[in-house]
Order: sequence, then C-alpha cells, then structure tokens
Amino acid sequence: MRLFAGGARSGLPASSVVLVTGASSGIGRAVAIRVAHDGGHVVLVARSAEPLEEVARECKEAGAASTLVVPTDVGNDEAVADCVARTLEEHGRIDAVVNSAGVVAYGRTEEIPAEVFDGVVRSNLIGSVNVARHVLPVMRSQRRGSLVLVGSVLGHIGAPTMTPYVVSKWGVRALARQLQLENRDIDGVHIGHVAPGGIDTPIYAQAASIDGTQSGPPPPAHSPEWVAHRIVSTLDEPSKRAQIGIGNNLLRFGFNALPAVYDVVVGPAFRLVALDPTRPKAPTDGNVLSPSPEGNRLHGDYDNVVQRLVRRWVPMPRPRQGGGA
Ligand SMILES: NC(=O)c1ccc[n+]([C@@H]2O[C@H](COP(=O)([O-])OP(=O)(O)OC[C@H]3O[C@@H](n4cnc5c(N)ncnc54)[C@H](OP(=O)(O)O)[C@@H]3O)[C@@H](O)[C@H]2O)c1
Repeated sequence: MRLFAGGARSGLPASSVVLVTGASSGIGRAVAIRVAHDGGHVVLVARSAEPLEEVARECKEAGAASTLVVPTDVGNDEAVADCVARTLEEHGRIDAVVNSAGVVAYGRTEEIPAEVFDGVVRSNLIGSVNVARHVLPVMRSQRRGSLVLVGSVLGHIGAPTMTPYVVSKWGVRALARQLQLENRDIDGVHIGHVAPGGIDTPIYAQAASIDGTQSGPPPPAHSPEWVAHRIVSTLDEPSKRAQIGIGNNLLRFGFNALPAVYDVVVGPAFRLVALDPTRPKAPTDGNVLSPSPEGNRLHGDYDNVVQRLVRRWVPMPRPRQGGGA
C-alpha cells in the first residue's frame, strides 16, 4: 500500500506531516525545502534555532502548508521525546521522518579527544536511535509512516582519519536493518536507509579537525538538492538501502572484493581528493560539541577537486567559502 496519495511533483500530498532533523543545513535543509515545495507540513529540527527560523521562512516561500521549528539535540533522548510530543500536539500525526542530523571529525583514532569521538557517535548513531525510539511507536500506532535514516557510503567502507564517523555510520546501517526486521509486521510502516557519497554541503567546513587538516567532498560531489529529490520522491515507500552517488558501488566493490588493493590505495587517494593541505585551519572541535549556526547553509561551495589539486602546485585566490573555515 502506498502511504501518500500522489502529488504532482513528488508523490507527497499537500497534507503530509514530515519531520526533518538536520533541517538547518545541507541535505536536511534541501529535504525540508523540497517537502515544502510539495505543500507539506514541515517540522524543522536541529540544535540551533536561528538557522531553523531562516529555513522556516524559505519553506513558507516554497509553499509549505505550515512550518514548526523545534530546536532539539537528537543526541538527547528526552529532548527527542519532547520534540515528537510537540509535533503530535501540533499535528496529531507524523507521516514521515527524515533523520539527517550529522557531524564529522577528522584525526587519527587515538588522537581524537574522547569527548569529540563520543560527540560524533552521539549525534549520528545515538541520535538515530533516539529518533527511532520515539517516532516508531507513533507510526506503529498509526499503522503507517516512513522513517528514513541518512547514513553514508562510509557506513559500508573505511577511510583513514574518519573513525568516529565511519563507526557511527556502520552503526546507522545496522540500526536501519534491525528496524526493518522489527517492523515487518505492519505493511504501512517503512524504514529506509540512504547512503550518500560526497555531497556539496557545509559538513566538511563544520567538521572537527584535530590536526587542522581541511577537507572537502570527494568527487563526484553531488548537490544536496539531488539527494533531497531521491529521498522525498520515495518517501511514501522508501528504499531499504539506497546508494546515492555514482562512485558508491565502485568503492564498496573495492572494499569488499579487493581488500588488499583497497587498503593500499585508500590512504593516498583519500589524501589526494578529500583533503586539502594547502588550506590548513586551526585545530578545531568544529560543530561536534556545540553548533556553529553561522556555518549552516544549503551548499558547501567548495573548490572542486581539480582546483584543489592544481593549488598544491600553483597558488590560487581563496574560494568564496571554501571548505574554508
Ligand atoms: N555531505 C556529505 O558529503 C555527506 C555524505 C554522506 C552522508 N552525509 C550525511 O548526511 C547527513 C546530513 O549531512 P550534511 O552534509 O547535510 O551536513 P550539514 O550541512 O553540516 O548539516 C548537518 C545538520 O545536522 C544538524 N545537527 C548536527 N548535530 C545535531 C544534533 N546533535 N542534533 C540535531 N541536529 C544536529 C546541524 O544543525 P545544528 O548544528 O544547529 O544542530 C545541521 O542542520 C549527515 O547524517 C551526514 O553524515 C553527508
């Protein structure tokens, strides 16, 4: 049974109530705007209120039936419970949830401070668990609803100096599979897992970096709008394991089928295309332990990989925002 009746643009009817975490930036922001564009009621969740208010204005302009801003740290179970209660108080139901809240930290495993390591796992993995814990009883009692967990291609493979993120995203994928098994008994309740590859969002500029290495999306970097389109257009019956990125399957094949080759190649390749030694920044906790609202926006606007590579040999002017914090 399809949950939504079928709108002109995405399959969502105008009256859908869609809660989006990580709604102030990147993929979550694009999802919220896309849902608004299709006339949905959007519930906007992230830690910082101010950028959420800005997104609420954008959603109203895009055609949202309504907007509700609920600043919440998904890593805090009680706060997530309150957020879900507030949504039910306002709308009486939740048709879909897209859990896109996430943070990144770079550094060797033993050098990342414990609180930063735990902070990444708390936002990405424990946050996903908290969201599932409080929205699934609602969806099960409605006997319908979709929960989409945003994972990552790094939930399938490894990458040096990204251990807390990789561990958290492997965990998110495991969580999604567990929830799929546990919710098979109700046809109308769907658990989706999407694994984006490199996406042009502020997450790299916002990342914690223990040694001050700057990062950017590895190529081919796709837009958050494209990810949002893929998520929202199937929100009535989300894919159980969607890969979003044309490089994902190649990376997964290398990691699983050719581990010896993968292990030799991944370090140098990662340093070449995902890190930018020409733009070092001061070591930072980024937005892991507390939000950096000024950095929340739709796109990352990084230099592309060719620019980054050329700059290693030829000095170039600084980019607009560049992974450039
Ligand atoms: N960009 C990529 O290349 C890429 C690739 C694969 C997967 N992903 C995944 O896609 C999701 C979205 O990432 P993005 O690239 O769109 O990042 P982004 O632009 O940095 O947005 C992250 C969002 O999450 C919110 N957030 C962070 N920690 C939170 C917490 N504890 N509680 C509530 N909200 C929190 C942030 O707002 P506040 O700071 O105000 O809370 C922000 O709205 C993440 O799960 C990420 O791992 C991204």
